[in-house]
Amino acid sequence: MRLQQKTALVTGAAGGIGSAIARCFAREGAQVILADVDFDGCTRVLDDIRQAGGDGSAFRADLSDEQQVLALFSRIRERYGRLDILANIAGGDIEPAASVEELDAEKISRNLDMNLKSCMLCCREAVKIMKPQQYGRIVNMSSLVYRGSPAQFSYSASKGGIFSFTRSIAIALGSSNITANALAPALVEVDAFVRALGQERWNALARASAERYPLGRIATPDDVANAALFLASDDAAFITGQLLEISGGARL
Ligand SMILES: NC(=O)c1ccc[n+]([C@@H]2O[C@H](COP(=O)([O-])OP(=O)(O)OC[C@H]3O[C@@H](n4cnc5c(N)ncnc54)[C@H](O)[C@@H]3O)[C@@H](O)[C@H]2O)c1
Repeated sequence: MRLQQKTALVTGAAGGIGSAIARCFAREGAQVILADVDFDGCTRVLDDIRQAGGDGSAFRADLSDEQQVLALFSRIRERYGRLDILANIAGGDIEPAASVEELDAEKISRNLDMNLKSCMLCCREAVKIMKPQQYGRIVNMSSLVYRGSPAQFSYSASKGGIFSFTRSIAIALGSSNITANALAPALVEVDAFVRALGQERWNALARASAERYPLGRIATPDDVANAALFLASDDAAFITGQLLEISGGARL
């Protein structure tokens, strides 16, 4: 087991990718702290983890709200007293498919808050615990659209920002034995897409994407979880400031 005696916070843990990462970290021996605005979703994932022999705790927090981030970390400090791994997975796109001319100020702010600000605030609070420990592994969620997208302007900007921020903190925190890396998946099969698009449109999107990816399929949440596990583990002890594309070769 690669994360034995580690304490890991996974944000967005009720979602498709976050829940796969939380389950994977628990299987590898970590105590997992699941945080999401969807508390019921977190407790369902935690129940599964416990049934499989793992352990952890679940918290409700809207991570784009600074006060709720502070409250979450104060409860983590009280209950665990340490934090070895932070996987910042919470996020999403509330302004998909808008044209440049349609960009909406309110939605731009919400996308930046939900993806970039939440990540920055959680890193800030985690680092206050990790620095005195002289140990930390930070895994942030970017996206392959960090390279640019003709349909996801505010979202791709937030994910590009996460990559820049990750590089910056990697430089600043290396001397404290804290690594920071980012994940950049292409399309991942999650229920949220099926709910948002409907089964038929989702099937068409998934098929068209799979045809474009050299490996001939889209990603599963477990593909992303395995990459997160690598970056969170000591196998990646000398890797920092990197972005790992989990893309089946898309956009090569
Ligand atoms: N699915 C994909 O194709 C894909 C590709 C690249 C990157 N991503 C990124 O992966 C991450 C996970 O996405 P997913 O596909 O699992 O979607 P998802 O909708 O299943 O999961 C996202 C989770 O984040 C939570 N969340 C959103 N805003 C929050 C907030 N302010 N505070 C706390 N929790 C919040 C949601 O409640 C949800 O449980 C996101 O950051 C997404 O941008 C997804």
